[in-house]
Amino acid sequence: MSDPQLVLAARVQAALSAAFGPSYADADPVIRPSSFADLQANVALPLAKKLGRKPRDVAEEIVANLDTAGVVSDVQVSGPGFINLTLSDDWIAGEAQRALADARLGVPAVEKPRKVVVEYSSPNVAKEMHVGHLRTTIVGDAVSRVLAFLGHEVVRDNHVGDWGTPFGMLIEHLLDLGEDAAARGDSSVRDLTAFYQAAREKFDGDATFADRSRARVVALQAGDAETLRLWNVLVEVSKQYFNDVYGRLGVTLTDDDIKGESFYNDLLAPTVAELEDKGIAVISEGALCAFPPGFTGREGEPLPVIIRKSDGGYNYSTTDLATIRYRVDTERVDRMIYVVGSTQALHFQMVFAVARMAGWLGDDVEAEHAQIGSVLGTDGKLLRTRAGRTVRLAELLDEAIERAGAVFDEIQHDEPFDDATRASIVRDVGMGAVKYADLSVARDSEYVFDLDRMISFHGKTGPYLQYAAARIRSIFRKGGLDPADATGPIVLGHPTERALALELLGFGAVVQQAADTAEPHRLASYVYAVADAYTSFYENCPVLKAPDEETKASRLALCAATLRTLVTGLDLLGVPTPERM
Ligand code: ARG
Repeated sequence: MSDPQLVLAARVQAALSAAFGPSYADADPVIRPSSFADLQANVALPLAKKLGRKPRDVAEEIVANLDTAGVVSDVQVSGPGFINLTLSDDWIAGEAQRALADARLGVPAVEKPRKVVVEYSSPNVAKEMHVGHLRTTIVGDAVSRVLAFLGHEVVRDNHVGDWGTPFGMLIEHLLDLGEDAAARGDSSVRDLTAFYQAAREKFDGDATFADRSRARVVALQAGDAETLRLWNVLVEVSKQYFNDVYGRLGVTLTDDDIKGESFYNDLLAPTVAELEDKGIAVISEGALCAFPPGFTGREGEPLPVIIRKSDGGYNYSTTDLATIRYRVDTERVDRMIYVVGSTQALHFQMVFAVARMAGWLGDDVEAEHAQIGSVLGTDGKLLRTRAGRTVRLAELLDEAIERAGAVFDEIQHDEPFDDATRASIVRDVGMGAVKYADLSVARDSEYVFDLDRMISFHGKTGPYLQYAAARIRSIFRKGGLDPADATGPIVLGHPTERALALELLGFGAVVQQAADTAEPHRLASYVYAVADAYTSFYENCPVLKAPDEETKASRLALCAATLRTLVTGLDLLGVPTPERM
């Protein structure tokens, strides 16, 4: 255990138990950051109230029982009863040294790995991905990487919208264009927005086309082989497009991770039957509905989850219920994380409530909606093109790379780059910028998609962090050294060395938190804090020109530990770190 907060918490708890009895052994020691020391323990205040004593006296008694050996160099009671704790330099140095020597940077794998489904991206077939999907894709991928790093069994799940009534008109439109148009990669099919709109227009304006489309839906749902084959042509065109976007973004999703809505088609009827058998689904106004407790409309009337429409058709909610049932009964997962827009919050709350009524979710199986906020344009409104269309993802990514190129050419480089190297760095910078910007805000907040800010080499941006890592690599190159050989020993002299080492020790706790909460922005902020601490260190402590060999060895070790923390942290966020910049 090397996280300072956890180590100090354990020491304070031991002191509590020694001073006030074993029932206080798990009391929250209320460890907080401190402006007077490294950390402070504030437990004396609530405890004094409970014991009917003066907080300062309680604090003194805790301190009298505190084992400081090996960890704490100074302890002071201040103000009404805060306990200020200063960690010893030797302890910090030793823990940093241990992290450096460990392939996992001192972050242990969890003792009890869980099977976790992370459902993310989930675009719709025969429709363009929009920026909302960009965000669920980036956040979901980071969540998956973090959980996998901690040793959990991660099931990436791309719940693509590949089923339902629109496919009738889409298939008929494909037949009108000629199937070979898809095979040729003709733009009438490849341009998904245009394809979808053309089908829609015909459906609305041409009665025979609409009839054909409706008949086609029936054939699709009945499993007609020729219809399924045509449907598959559409699915394949879309998959190529999704994979193109995933490849450019460096997202870990593959075709094997796709379990679209169609996958659950055969499970809908048995799911509904089980809900009926359990008395959860009842007929209301012709439709089969469940009424989860606690969900009411404006007038206090109970709100239904419609499970089978009055025309006999199933819907989005039915599919989501069948999905949960499948994940619990067949995949036997422990936790499901739905990385989906916050606009669907009520849908998920109600679906989860029904699943709980059915006994599919409970204490041992968790489901959570990891809500994703909207992406806004610089005008503060939902991101649109100037013509008012939704922005196409591919164009957005092209633009990011183009701007990254312009900014990249303006900065000073140690060496000239050939075209291919430049292109590859610029791609990493552009994608890293977009991804980091997305991950650095709390996932449920809105954020403004502003390429100029994202691609800057200054401030809390992807390029700044990539550059910080590249700068450390360049120190090793200049010294003709390999970071792997920089093994210390770490000795802390200058305050910025101490601050940097202390920051590095927080990595494991942050990764754990990001995994528990499915909130990668915690890790994004941490990586930035590391780069910041490194910058102060670098400005104050010459490395290659250190005053003596011991100091040089220690500083090189700090550089190596920082580099690995940055690279590992950014990799968990899915942000690449080019070797040179
Ligand atoms: N395809 C849906 C959309 O684009 C998202 C699916 C979310 N996942 C789910 N299990 N309902 O809005």
